[in-house]
Amino acid sequence: MRIPLFKPDFGKEEEEALIKVIRSGWIAQGMQVKLFEEKIAEHIRIEPDRVVALSSGTAALHLALICAGISAGDEVLVPSMGFVATAEAVVYCNAVPVFTDVDKWLHTSDVSAFESKLSNKTKAIMPVHVYGRMAPMDKLTDWARDKGLIVIEDAAPAFGAALSGKPAGLWGEYGCYSLQSSKPLTAGDGGILIAPNKEKADEARCLRFQGANVWDFTNIDFSDFWEEDFIKLGYSYRMTDLQAAVGLVQLKRYTEITAKKVELFNQYNELLSSASDKIFLPPEDVNNLPSTTALQQYIIVIKDGGKEKRDGIVKKARKKGIFLMNGGYCLPSHSLWKSCGFNVNDKEFPSALFAGDSTISLPLYVGLKQSEVKEVCDLLLEMA
Ligand SMILES: Cc1ncc(COP(=O)(O)O)c(C=O)c1O
Repeated sequence: MRIPLFKPDFGKEEEEALIKVIRSGWIAQGMQVKLFEEKIAEHIRIEPDRVVALSSGTAALHLALICAGISAGDEVLVPSMGFVATAEAVVYCNAVPVFTDVDKWLHTSDVSAFESKLSNKTKAIMPVHVYGRMAPMDKLTDWARDKGLIVIEDAAPAFGAALSGKPAGLWGEYGCYSLQSSKPLTAGDGGILIAPNKEKADEARCLRFQGANVWDFTNIDFSDFWEEDFIKLGYSYRMTDLQAAVGLVQLKRYTEITAKKVELFNQYNELLSSASDKIFLPPEDVNNLPSTTALQQYIIVIKDGGKEKRDGIVKKARKKGIFLMNGGYCLPSHSLWKSCGFNVNDKEFPSALFAGDSTISLPLYVGLKQSEVKEVCDLLLEMA
């Protein structure tokens, strides 16, 4: 594709960091991962022993649910618009994801959506900061605490987002970031779990390495004899030092990378503003509070959209070498749930159905040229 949807901004520094790890001979989870966890903690201003680096954002969601005690038969309220991983992680725990409709335009969840699906089996809610846009966490956490529910924030696309100055990932008991290549902070792939305390983070560290009682190899004396025991049913969810080394450089460059994306984001705003009667543009502040949206892609909604119109625009763009795609998915429409034995009817979620058929994700990455942003906008202005 001439203009891809996303493209990580990796350069000399990332290359050198990778070469250093390769030459060190220690590739698996080691000192780089530990340092990365410390730097993430410093960035969001929390204690370093609450941060657990993992192989993916989905692994972070899964471990958050286990550490929160979610098990067979429990219900977990999840939004109906976003990405399948949120609900899949619930199913990994033999629990039931209960879908809730979203705001028609913002695609975030509000209290009434969760309230309408509350039952005596509900144990947790998983608000998603869809596209890096903050869900109204002030109201959602107040409500969840009142109902005795655990809050697991799916902040997969939202590293760097904040509401009233408080970062995404720190509002709930657990917060989960993804570091996949399209995300605002990337390590190629990977995830971060923010646990409520050291005890829960240590539980996740144990589960990350197959449930072993030894999980930190950075301070072991290898000349000494030691033997691990496997004390829990764990997983292979480790991050490698290669990923962490790249993540460390990207974290150091986070402000510079974000500033460039903000410029392009503003250019989209400017060029598309004349079509605001036809295209819903990403709002500046959401939830009537000062907020920062983490920049993944630039997401628009075609106001009188629908699948045929939206897909027509996407197809035409791709023919011209511009990779556009849907912005998110109406999750209840996936056939997966039937195969898992759940009876889900997507007609119950009119806003998510509309959103799933009418959003478009536009390219947003450091190497994107202003002339390319204009080309994308010209196509939208012609077809929306
Ligand atoms: C909302 C949401 N949740 C979870 C994930 C899963 O993250 P990962 O791909 O790192 O497993 C993603 C990734 O796109 C996401 O957008």
